[in-house]
Amino acid sequence: MKVVFFGPPGSGKGTQAIKFAQRFRNPHLSTGDILRKAIEEGTETGLKAKSLMDAGQLIPDSDIVAIVRDRISQSDCQSGFILDGFPRTLEQAHDLERFLKGHSEELDYVFEFKVPTELLIERITGRFSCKKCGAAYHPTMNPTKVADVCDRCGSSDFMKREDDTLDTVKGRIAVYEGQAQPLLSYYSRLGVCASIDAVGSVEEVFNRVIKSIEK
Ligand code: AP5
Repeated sequence: MKVVFFGPPGSGKGTQAIKFAQRFRNPHLSTGDILRKAIEEGTETGLKAKSLMDAGQLIPDSDIVAIVRDRISQSDCQSGFILDGFPRTLEQAHDLERFLKGHSEELDYVFEFKVPTELLIERITGRFSCKKCGAAYHPTMNPTKVADVCDRCGSSDFMKREDDTLDTVKGRIAVYEGQAQPLLSYYSRLGVCASIDAVGSVEEVFNRVIKSIEK
């Protein structure tokens, strides 16, 4: 399956994309995770991306499309991939479509996650993530099953993201709102867009995603 998880920061697209990728055995490709890894490794891409990410701004389309094209060309993506955080602009969406068309392929679904802004802020400012596998948790809204142990990989090494401060989160939400509508119109025209109410427990939201496919 070739799927896009789309939504504002904190809407839970990363959490759901990981579950979806496990269920359907397709690789989970988070552009945010790829960029954070590049920063940690001190690569040229990482150095260029850091200040933009810290400020909650998007990195240039040309840089991110090159990264995604390279990743989805790899052999583990031949039978599908779960994109989380890409595309974010119309230019990125057009580039993805060109790439897929060139391989006689197309997207199967774009899941649009909807969550009120106050809840987005609460989710993000409380978020902590597993340093090893990237799974995201929240102390009250989505805690680990066992205290201080990642449900997904068993690690006890957690981190807070540097771009999760209140000011940056507000900026990231504004950036999302500035880009979302044209992208959603584009995917609606292609007939692949499914809107998901993403308020509720992680399991409830996941069930809605699965139901939207069954429909
Ligand atoms: P990225 O890492 O993609 O961040 P984001 O889009 O801002 O999204 P988040 O990861 O903050 O939120 P999420 O929706 O995945 O929520 P999560 O599941 O973690 O991008 C970071 C930066 O990289 C960008 O600002 C940009 O600079 C750059 N970048 C990345 N892609 C780019 C691109 N294509 N083009 C240009 N630049 C790009 O959940 C959030 C919290 O809520 C967690 O604590 C979680 O445990 C909790 N939670 C999740 N679901 C539920 C639920 N149902 N109930 C209760 N709590 C929940």
